[in-house]
Amino acid sequence: MNDSLRDTLQELNQTHLITACEKLDAADRQLLEEQIAQIPWDEMRNLIPQALAGTATESLPEIQPLENAIRLPESQDEITSWAQAREAGLALLDAGRVGAILVAGGQGTRLGFPHPKGMFPIGPVTSRTLFQIFFEQLLALSNRHGVRIPYFIMTSDATHDETEQFLSEHAWFGYPPEDVYLFRQGTMPAIDDNTGQILLASPTQVAISPDGHGGLLNALQRANLFQSMKHHGVETLFYHQVDNPCVTMCDPVMLGFHSLRNSEITTKVVAKRNAAERVGILAQMNQRQAIVEYSDLPLELSEKTDSSGMLVYWAGNIAIHVMNRDLLERLATGTTRLPIHIAHKKVPYLNSESRVIEPEAPNAFKFERFVFDAIPLAQNPLVIETSREDEFNPVKNAEGEDSPASSKQALSRRGQRWLQQAGYDVAENTVVEISPLEALEPADLQDMDLNLDGDADEILLIPDSQ
Ligand code: UTP
Repeated sequence: MNDSLRDTLQELNQTHLITACEKLDAADRQLLEEQIAQIPWDEMRNLIPQALAGTATESLPEIQPLENAIRLPESQDEITSWAQAREAGLALLDAGRVGAILVAGGQGTRLGFPHPKGMFPIGPVTSRTLFQIFFEQLLALSNRHGVRIPYFIMTSDATHDETEQFLSEHAWFGYPPEDVYLFRQGTMPAIDDNTGQILLASPTQVAISPDGHGGLLNALQRANLFQSMKHHGVETLFYHQVDNPCVTMCDPVMLGFHSLRNSEITTKVVAKRNAAERVGILAQMNQRQAIVEYSDLPLELSEKTDSSGMLVYWAGNIAIHVMNRDLLERLATGTTRLPIHIAHKKVPYLNSESRVIEPEAPNAFKFERFVFDAIPLAQNPLVIETSREDEFNPVKNAEGEDSPASSKQALSRRGQRWLQQAGYDVAENTVVEISPLEALEPADLQDMDLNLDGDADEILLIPDSQ
């Protein structure tokens, strides 16, 4: 271990790490020392005392209703302005200025699927995976607009190798591999909630976890991907999560409003199901647009209704954003960075007798960044409403709400609606699956002159080659 690292460990009361290294043989010692050297010590210097001091003394931010939201269109004027936004978004796509970002580094503990979540089979008829649906959407879009749409996929140590192997085994679902950038997010160590000492997971491993989806910014910078974006001429990024197969990737309406309103970050929301729904909401916090986490919204605000009985804090975050490349680069390299959230969690650890302990109560602090913290730091942030049934049906839990069953059913129902809107008869119990390569929206089905049996058990529209 070099002298400067040893000094840092002494200064920050982390000498147990020096002792742990000294107990190991040369090869293992090197392993552990490398991990210790990778810990962002400059950040830990501030974070450890902050975590130990707790947040109880922090005053609650001032929360006000959301400004600058575009609701689903109802009036003729609104319908016209959505049509204009769509034209502007299509022009951005035609110009090849758009890229896409997928965050796929999460551990998916609630779902309990023993692989990266993108490999989950979600097609209502076939075993089409989440990844396949995303790649097929981008392929259809890039073909339609005659442009390249680079796809930046953030993985983590937990998901990287398997994701890469899966995508390469499936030949990137026909997408040009040179337009796919797989890059790993960083990690943060966990600290003991009493002593502030960094925990070990085993004699040779620091207890680390992914640094949150907000780790995206540092990860893009480390992998030099802002340069790649510039090389592609990409100025605007469509951001989505791995768990929602209904996402409309690079939605032209969203891109168009983002550009016409000069926004640096635009967020899609759905109206909350009810006051108790556990989603973050968009609101004004300390006079800036921001996401208030579910646990931070006081009950009297979450239940507050207006004169027509509608929730005042209605705008549920579905983690779909359009963001300017410049904003991301500024927050990755400038003086203002995304804040770090400190969470009190149960983290297994190696005790002083070298036994791994599975704690029964929270024993450690973990550190994460969230992408949505970019919103209050952006110019002209904008919010746009979408329909939950069409666009937000994530796979989060193994059963019940937001599970594979509910998500598959939503995909099938959306397929039925698309076919019906395109003029076909479809029975309610027909299971429908439509590959994005066949249709990205109902209008694509209209031109196809399909010969369908509307009473069939299943309708499957996929390319002949599949
Ligand atoms: P979630 O908050 O749903 O977390 O992630 P998760 O890890 O996937 O699932 P649980 O909570 O363990 O059940 C939302 C999105 O952010 C990504 C996930 O892959 C998902 O697309 N994510 C989350 C990351 O890329 N990195 C992270 O560190 C955390």
